[in-house]
Amino acid sequence: MLAMNYRGPKRVRVSEKPLPEIKHPEDAIVRVTRSCICGSDLHLYNGNVPDTRVGMTFGHEFTGVVVEVGADVTKVKVGDHVLVPFNVACGRCVFCKQGMFGNCHESNPEATAVGGIFGYSHTAGGHEGGQAEYARVPYANVGPTVIPEGMDPDDAVLLTDVVPTGYQAAEMGGIQTGDTVVVFGAGPVGIMAARCSWLFGAGRVIIIDKEDYRLEFAKNYAHCEAYNFEKDMDDPVVFLKKTTDWLGADVCIDAVGAEAAGNAMQTITGRKLLLQAGSATALHWAINSVKKGGVVSIVGVYGPTDNLVPIGNVVNKGITIRANQASVKRLLPRLIEHVQNGVINPKGLITHRIPLQDVADGYRLFSEKLDNCIKPLLILPSAGR
Ligand SMILES: NC(=O)c1ccc[n+]([C@@H]2O[C@H](COP(=O)([O-])OP(=O)(O)OC[C@H]3O[C@@H](n4cnc5c(N)ncnc54)[C@H](O)[C@@H]3O)[C@@H](O)[C@H]2O)c1
Ligand SMILES: [Zn+2]
Ligand SMILES: [Zn+2]
Repeated sequence: MLAMNYRGPKRVRVSEKPLPEIKHPEDAIVRVTRSCICGSDLHLYNGNVPDTRVGMTFGHEFTGVVVEVGADVTKVKVGDHVLVPFNVACGRCVFCKQGMFGNCHESNPEATAVGGIFGYSHTAGGHEGGQAEYARVPYANVGPTVIPEGMDPDDAVLLTDVVPTGYQAAEMGGIQTGDTVVVFGAGPVGIMAARCSWLFGAGRVIIIDKEDYRLEFAKNYAHCEAYNFEKDMDDPVVFLKKTTDWLGADVCIDAVGAEAAGNAMQTITGRKLLLQAGSATALHWAINSVKKGGVVSIVGVYGPTDNLVPIGNVVNKGITIRANQASVKRLLPRLIEHVQNGVINPKGLITHRIPLQDVADGYRLFSEKLDNCIKPLLILPSAGR
């Protein structure tokens, strides 16, 4: 089959790989129909995730048709068109039972923090990803969910990550009616977080980025205020204080993660010299511009080791920090309803449709923010079949 193949930092290509096989009675094999490139993939692409092995296939946002199931699979059958949550989750460990499907204790033998994630290095379990013609889906009674009758597969594929992550970012913010919410990062996740903040009762939603086209997109898609931290302000923290009666925002959401721009010291120590696990600039701004007693919600991805984070300010301001990988399966029933009722329009984020064969161009386009790219979708050679 054809599959995306990681060759080293900023080098990916498509190549032939053996078809995946059932290895466990609870596995299913799917023929992939849609697969996205995510901001999380860029951390892998840039070589910033430990134990990203040459030869790995990335891809944790995909839909597919079930073509084979193991002997113990009962929840999906051959022929079902399913969406596959990005978390690989066993469904029966102590964490899965609490609905923490992003922290499954069984699906990632390499770590005690994050659970398994498709196509996300051996730090996240070494599971091959879905930027390929076929994918093996472990624990097929848990994750894969039949795409509801009438739902556009372009909507379904965004329910595997972006929609639940944006929604959970807002949920973890504990937004109260009328709250001012600031979202750092106007990528697909930040834009969805801004959109979902209204669902929780926000009174004002502000998004911050440095890409004008993304800010423009966010304004239209999420009906929020949008500001460029390089052009509209000297200091984002002072700017945000000033616009909130010098009190700060009630909730700040970090939808940027470890490769943030905007602070030379963070960029040099975190992204060039690797003295810390990435640059925590957006998180820094979030902590410093939230109100005393406010909430900082983090969905941006950070490495497991140290970062220069103003923890003293967290203590002295009495801030609550909430963070996690999204728990896709927990949120799916509600989010499927929101999509069916037209409350959320996931496919509105898709700006590019790129054949799998051109995956290298797709990564470059998304990573370098060319051609006003918000969310690229890989189209599989067999998608029409
Ligand atoms: N927790 C989860 O479950 C989960 C799921 C999906 C993605 N993520 C993470 O969420 C983050 C966003 O994902 P995405 O797909 O939207 O990525 P993306 O790379 O498309 O978007 C990130 C945006 O942040 C902007 N940015 C850079 N520095 C900034 C700063 N200092 N302040 C404000 N904006 C800044 C960039 O210009 C870019 O537009 C990534 O870290 C990704 O790994 C987490
Ligand atoms: Zn993703
Ligand atoms: Zn589990």
